[in-house]
Amino acid sequence: MVDINKQEKANILALKDVHSFYGQVEALRGVSLQVKAGEIVSLIGANGAGKTTLLMTICGKPKAQKGEIIFLNQSIVSKPTHEIIRLGIAHCPEGRHIFPKMTVMENLLMGIAETSKEFFKQDLKRIFDLFPILYDRRTQRGGTLSGGEQQMLAIGRAIISRPKLLLLDEPSLGLAPIIVQKIFATIRQLNKELQMTILLIEQNAYHALQLADRAYVLVNGYITMQGTGQELLTNPEISKAYLGG
Ligand SMILES: Nc1ncnc2c1ncn2[C@@H]1O[C@H](COP(=O)(O)OP(=O)(O)OP(=O)(O)O)[C@@H](O)[C@H]1O
Ligand SMILES: [Mg+2]
Repeated sequence: MVDINKQEKANILALKDVHSFYGQVEALRGVSLQVKAGEIVSLIGANGAGKTTLLMTICGKPKAQKGEIIFLNQSIVSKPTHEIIRLGIAHCPEGRHIFPKMTVMENLLMGIAETSKEFFKQDLKRIFDLFPILYDRRTQRGGTLSGGEQQMLAIGRAIISRPKLLLLDEPSLGLAPIIVQKIFATIRQLNKELQMTILLIEQNAYHALQLADRAYVLVNGYITMQGTGQELLTNPEISKAYLGG
C-alpha cells in the first residue's frame, strides 16, 4: 500500500499532452492531468467526450500515440497492459464486465494478483467486510446478481489486491438512486479508510464533484476546466452545462 504520509504531495499519476486515436479519429487531443497520492480526482464530461478512452489509454489500450504517462515516477506509456496492471493500477470498466457464469467467489479470485496470492484470505475478508452482500451471495453466479450487486462485485474484484490507483468508469450507471448512494459512500470509504487513490469518471456530475478533492472537465478530448470539487460545483458554467442549471 502507498505510504500516504511520505507521498502526500507526490503525483501518483501524471498525463502530459496525451493524444489517443481510434484509426483516424482523435479521441484525446492533448490531455494533461495529475492525480496525487490519497486524492479522489473526478473527470466529468458529456457522452463521447473521451472519458472512457482516457482511462483505457492509461491502461495502454489504446496506446497513447503522443505524450507521456507517468505512474509512480516511471513512464508507462509504452508498457503493455498486463505490466501496467501489475504496477498497481486497477481498472473497473464501464459496464462492469464481470464473468457471468462464474460465482461471486470465482470472480473475486480472478482479481487477485499473482504477486499477492499469499494475502488472499485477508484480501477476501476486506472485500466481504466492505460488501457483506457479496459474502451472502458468494456461491451465486455473477450473471444472476442485481445491477448494484454486480457493480459491487466489479469494484471488489478491482480492489482485492490493494491497487495503488483505482480507475472507476461510471460506477453509478444504470443503478437505482439508493444503490447509487451506497456506491458513492463506498468510494468515499475506500479513499478515507483504505487510503486508496481514485480517478473517477461520472456522468452524475453533482456526486462526482461532491466526492472529489479535485476535478477536471473533458470536452471533445480536451480538458477545458479544472479545480477543486467545490470550485467546480459552484461554477456557473459547470452548473449550467452539467448540473441542470
Ligand atoms: N473502439 C472505438 N472505435 C472507434 N471510435 C471509438 C471507439 N471507442 C470510442 N470511440 C469514439 O471516441 C470518442 C470518445 O469515446 P469515449 O467512449 O471515450 O467517450 P465517453 O466520454 O466515455 O462517453 P460516454 O459518457 O458515453 O461513456 C467517441 O467519439 C467515440 O465514438
Ligand atoms: Mg464512457
